[in-house]
Amino acid sequence: MQTQEVTLTLPKPHSGQRAMLREARRYNVAACGRRFGKSTLAIELLSRPALEAQPVAYFSPTYKLLIEVWRLLETTLQPVISRSNATERRIELITGGVIECWSMDNPDAGRSRRYARAVIDEAGLVADLGERWQAAIRPTLADLRGDAWLMGTPKGRNFFWECYNRGLDTMQPDWMCWQKPTSANPHIHPDEITAMQAELTERRFAQEILAQFLDDAGGVFRGVLACATLATVPAYDPSHTYVIGCDWGKTNDYTVFAVIDTTVKTLVALDRSNQVDYTVQRGRLQALCETWKPASVIAESNSMGQPIIEALARTGLPVRPFTTTNATKAVIIEALALAFERKDITILNHPVLTAELQAYEAQKLPSGLTRYSAPEGMQDDCVMGLALAWSTMGRSNSAVGAFGRR
Ligand SMILES: Nc1ncnc2c1ncn2[C@@H]1O[C@H](COP(=O)(O)OP(=O)(O)OP(=O)(O)O)[C@@H](O)[C@H]1O
Ligand SMILES: [Mg+2]
Repeated sequence: MQTQEVTLTLPKPHSGQRAMLREARRYNVAACGRRFGKSTLAIELLSRPALEAQPVAYFSPTYKLLIEVWRLLETTLQPVISRSNATERRIELITGGVIECWSMDNPDAGRSRRYARAVIDEAGLVADLGERWQAAIRPTLADLRGDAWLMGTPKGRNFFWECYNRGLDTMQPDWMCWQKPTSANPHIHPDEITAMQAELTERRFAQEILAQFLDDAGGVFRGVLACATLATVPAYDPSHTYVIGCDWGKTNDYTVFAVIDTTVKTLVALDRSNQVDYTVQRGRLQALCETWKPASVIAESNSMGQPIIEALARTGLPVRPFTTTNATKAVIIEALALAFERKDITILNHPVLTAELQAYEAQKLPSGLTRYSAPEGMQDDCVMGLALAWSTMGRSNSAVGAFGRR
């Protein structure tokens, strides 16, 4: 048989990336500034074991972010690809190695697979990273005693930060971590860093460019963890009053129902699902209403909301529509922010909710108005569900204007 020689050009790791490859342990946590070269490093990390016939996986928080690395993998590895399936996002190499790319929009990402390496890109943006890591990703490494790389730009003190701390902990020798600013990428001109320093707020520069894990002191919601003291869902108390806030899922996000006990100002339950079928969503909400017997259900009426609200109202549920606009959203978010600041609210310690709250951002628009949203690539369904439910607390405040009549 004739052997054919192929030439493959992998990006040559820069000094910052090389240091990480050299110092790696089994679990590696890389907190890096934007444009440091995380995705480029991912190509190296996935290609090497795959060229040695190993199965490896790439995880990305969203489909959009995944595509960039998928394309890079396809072009870089083109001479050694035996089969590439864009639907399954699976690349097979002539060596027998396999690279699978997963978007974590998919709740089953990685389940029942086995990998020699898992690379999680933009790990700071994955709100339920803790759950994903424990239930889906970590088990994929068991058969082959694989290693893992969690890479990303910090986004507050979430599970990615916890992993980073494991890397600092000398008692956890399997874990390693690095903090690499954007300036550690020699391919980014230093003038660009100076320019960004001038343009960005100090906090944003510290987070996005210096790769620092900031506490929530300057975020929209301050003191989130201090209010997240309810460990488990309490039983229904017939002497209390409850309300439910509903944020409907669109194509790629979650439907969230937040149940607040208004008597003790506490978020007692949070139902989060990515069922796109509205009949299913309605059924879930009806079941929740049977449990909590809410005095009112505040539901977003935009886009798909209206027909569901009408259907729910016909079943006798006390539904009130809420029209989300930039202005009405600002009112309910600011009311919720004040509740956290004054420790007026207690919330269930739900990892996705606390991560979303801590990462939530405010942006000043040229018009002088403020736009509130999740950072790009991250979701805010839990925040919206909670803010909608909380908006009923002070019905005399200006949020009332956002409610329509039934
Ligand atoms: N080893 C390398 N050799 C050549 N260029 C590199 C290398 N590493 C990174 N770069 C270049 O630096 C830029 C940023 O790289 P990359 O997209 O991998 O960074 P990132 O940290 O994933 O960025 P983002 O934060 O936007 O996701 C790109 O133009 C990339 O080509
Ligand atoms: Mg990237």
